[in-house]
Amino acid sequence: MEQLLRNFFLFLSKNKFFTKMAKRYGLRFGAARFVAGETIADVVESIRKLNAKGMAVTVDHLGEFIDSQEEARAAADECIEAIKAISSNGLDSQVSLKMTSMGLDISHELVMENMRRILQAGKEHDVFVTIDMEDFERCQKTIDIFKELRKEYDNVGTVLQAYLYRTVEDIEDLDQYNPNLRLVKGAYKESPKVAFPEKKDVDDNFKKIIKKHLLNGNYTAVATHDEAMIEYTKEIVKKHNIPNDLFEFQMLYGIRVERQEELVDEGYKMRVYVPYGNDWYGFYMRRLAERPANVAFVLKGIMKK
Ligand code: FDA
Repeated sequence: MEQLLRNFFLFLSKNKFFTKMAKRYGLRFGAARFVAGETIADVVESIRKLNAKGMAVTVDHLGEFIDSQEEARAAADECIEAIKAISSNGLDSQVSLKMTSMGLDISHELVMENMRRILQAGKEHDVFVTIDMEDFERCQKTIDIFKELRKEYDNVGTVLQAYLYRTVEDIEDLDQYNPNLRLVKGAYKESPKVAFPEKKDVDDNFKKIIKKHLLNGNYTAVATHDEAMIEYTKEIVKKHNIPNDLFEFQMLYGIRVERQEELVDEGYKMRVYVPYGNDWYGFYMRRLAERPANVAFVLKGIMKK
């Protein structure tokens, strides 16, 4: 049943009609639990509060799978706005973004033009930018873009997903770039031809890539709400004397909030991923797919309307 619900929400996450309706009608159906606001001005206060609790942030102006050059350029402008707002408000925050929002499905040149504008602004304002990882179809293209940009900029990192068979090799291949990588389990619906179908295998591979990337001496962001993965990371860094400034934990805004604070109290670096914007639908559906129990929040949201 849980698997059925998961597939259902992942299927819904790519529905273009619902995506358009969601943009038009604003944050609904409990989405505000996971999405901090609609504009960067809305979220400045949320970032300030998290910073005051000792947590760093990465903000994501929500957007994905866009299909016009204008939308891609507007999405890049939003990221630059966010970078300026972070700098002018003295916030401890990075920026995360998706290649399909920068025009990946339109042209390579468009993505590179947008990314260079963003990374240049990031460089000027000392803001780091992480390229989120999307579905398998776009994985190789995203890695190629990362490699090209990494040769020109220090302030760019990307994400690798433990559910993909290829990821251990990607960790090895990317080592020459000394990459700052966020490691995650993976949030999209993928074929068993390319991704482990069983949770246990994903978890085992997650542990393998955490260890490998840490022991390669590269900055590692372990992005998970899974206690077993957090404990495993703590064990590895202790065993190999890896200093606290070489890794961090990351969690999503609104999920396991108390645990986020505890990790700060325990002396670890904690970064919260704070999404905002009106293109919240796909992001929200993937969060529901991860934990169908969250559907209760949808129902409450609908009943309040
Ligand atoms: P798992 O799904 O096993 O969950 C462990 C426990 O955490 C659950 O039992 C539950 O208690 C809690 N939990 C997990 N998800 C929850 C939810 N939605 N609501 C409430 N509780 C929940 N993916 C991707 O493909 N590309 C990317 O770029 C990113 N980026 C990213 C950034 C950050 C900061 C995070 C934390 C995650 C991502 N992800 C991602 C998503 C990631 O791939 C994965 O889908 C989710 O983190 C859920 O997996 P967990 O590791 O939390 O474990």
